[in-house]
Amino acid sequence: MRQTVSFYLNGLLQTVRPASPTQTVLQYLREQAGLRGTKEGCAEGDCGACTVTEAALDPDGQVVFRSINACIRFLPTLDGRAIWTVEGLSAENQALHPVQQAMVDHHASQCGFCTPGFVMSLYTMYCNGQRRPVREEVLDNLSGNLCRCTGYRPIIDAAMAMGHYPDENADVEQIKRQLHALQETACHEPLELAVSGQKFRSPITADHLAELVQAHPDATLLAGGTDIGLMVTKQLHHFDDLIYLGNVAELDVVSRDEDTLTIGASVLLNKGYQALVAEYPEAESLWKRFASMPIRNSGTLVGNVANGSPIGDSAPLLIALQTRVVLRKGQARRELPLENLYLDYRKQDRSPGEFLESIKIPLRMADLKVGTYKLSKRFDQDISAVCGAYAVTLDGDVVQSVRIAYGGMAATSRRAPAAERALLGQPFDASSVAAAMAALAIDYQPLTDMRASSDYRLQAAQNLLYRFYLETTGAAQTRV
Ligand SMILES: Cc1cc2nc3c(=O)[nH]c(=O)nc-3n(C[C@H](O)[C@H](O)[C@H](O)COP(=O)(O)OP(=O)(O)OC[C@H]3O[C@@H](n4cnc5c(N)ncnc54)[C@H](O)[C@@H]3O)c2cc1C
Ligand code: FES
Ligand code: FES
Repeated sequence: MRQTVSFYLNGLLQTVRPASPTQTVLQYLREQAGLRGTKEGCAEGDCGACTVTEAALDPDGQVVFRSINACIRFLPTLDGRAIWTVEGLSAENQALHPVQQAMVDHHASQCGFCTPGFVMSLYTMYCNGQRRPVREEVLDNLSGNLCRCTGYRPIIDAAMAMGHYPDENADVEQIKRQLHALQETACHEPLELAVSGQKFRSPITADHLAELVQAHPDATLLAGGTDIGLMVTKQLHHFDDLIYLGNVAELDVVSRDEDTLTIGASVLLNKGYQALVAEYPEAESLWKRFASMPIRNSGTLVGNVANGSPIGDSAPLLIALQTRVVLRKGQARRELPLENLYLDYRKQDRSPGEFLESIKIPLRMADLKVGTYKLSKRFDQDISAVCGAYAVTLDGDVVQSVRIAYGGMAATSRRAPAAERALLGQPFDASSVAAAMAALAIDYQPLTDMRASSDYRLQAAQNLLYRFYLETTGAAQTRV
């Protein structure tokens, strides 16, 4: 088994033995590679000072460029990939890269601490051919970069102007050849690190993954690491044994049959939400408000479900849509409704050696009314105080089926049975919705914490249900 990690850094092949399996990419860049342009601001994926550009092969063998947070990515996860830092954009004494020149010309840097991160987010857009982006695209791509000096306007101006500078094409074909060569090595000899008593295994096939998880039931599964990374950098947690899902191409697949959308365990948040939004456009605002672009470029949708946080954003909607999870242990698989996976706070119906292989979301039924809303203090990059999701069908004006689920209201994301009962079989009107709003007080006794008080949460949950009713019926706003 291979004990070294191979990746391209600013176009040059690196073969390194990490100091530990949880050494971060940022630590490697600054402390080993001597590339200190990439900064550490928060070490928890929030500020974007550590943003670098990653290139990886998608399951079809095409190169995909993504901005990622180096501070919470573990170095071994770069195996088979390429990254660029701000130092890789233009050689000493050479002209600045168009992205950098646009930043200079638009006075988009003051103290400069955030600037390399912004430049790399823009460089990622540039590599993806987004050279003349509209403002919304820029805001989405910069959602993970904070600046305390400029007020953002000049940075946005620079982003929108970068296409006016001479075209610099990344040699995508060469990058593809390089990554394919690394992938071939990984297939012949998967990465299996053992450093200072810590292990990191990176299987390539789903069968090998299942075998490893069953044989090492105490090992921790690592998907995108956007939850696990923080446990290392903020809580100083020590992981003895990590099994990485990010190189299992079979699980990086979104598929559709006549009635189901299946999303595999390695599918990143952006790709998973893109497929979900194609079926349920109502989920778009949830997608765009989920963390930030670099987090959605590293984290997985199934990881969000598996993490099972009571304030995770995907579970309420997925529960409302009747999503099922596929659990695998060795060669055995079982399926259960997502709401049944969550038993209690951080307790799941999952046995040792078992993992989530995929989630299955029913395709849209005709006339299904769907809504989901996230409430948090900031638009981007914030955790929900309350997240509500609703799925209703009507027979005439009578509620034929109803599923309501909330996050942030209990120890797990879960349904609201009393509110559902208040609506089922009733006309979908202001009076039944008022009864359902009142019933939410039976369903939930939310906590008070730093994000919101119990009273706020309950009232907000009630008002979100009312909003869903108004938006889906077009009913005139009446006081209830
Ligand atoms: C700055 C920042 C902002 C964030 N914002 C949001 C937000 O707005 N909304 C939100 O909901 N979350 C948010 N998160 C949390 C996180 O990004 C999500 O929960 C993400 O989807 C986790 O996926 P991952 O692949 O990174 O999981 P990982 O960190 O790799 O794993 C998470 C947990 O799930 C387990 N796990 C992963 N995959 C599997 C599997 N297939 N089977 C069994 N267990 C598995 C792991 O062992 C671990 O316990 C944020 C995180 C950060 C750092
Ligand atoms: S250092 Fe703040 S996001 Fe990485
Ligand atoms: S220029 Fe100072 S933080 Fe952005």
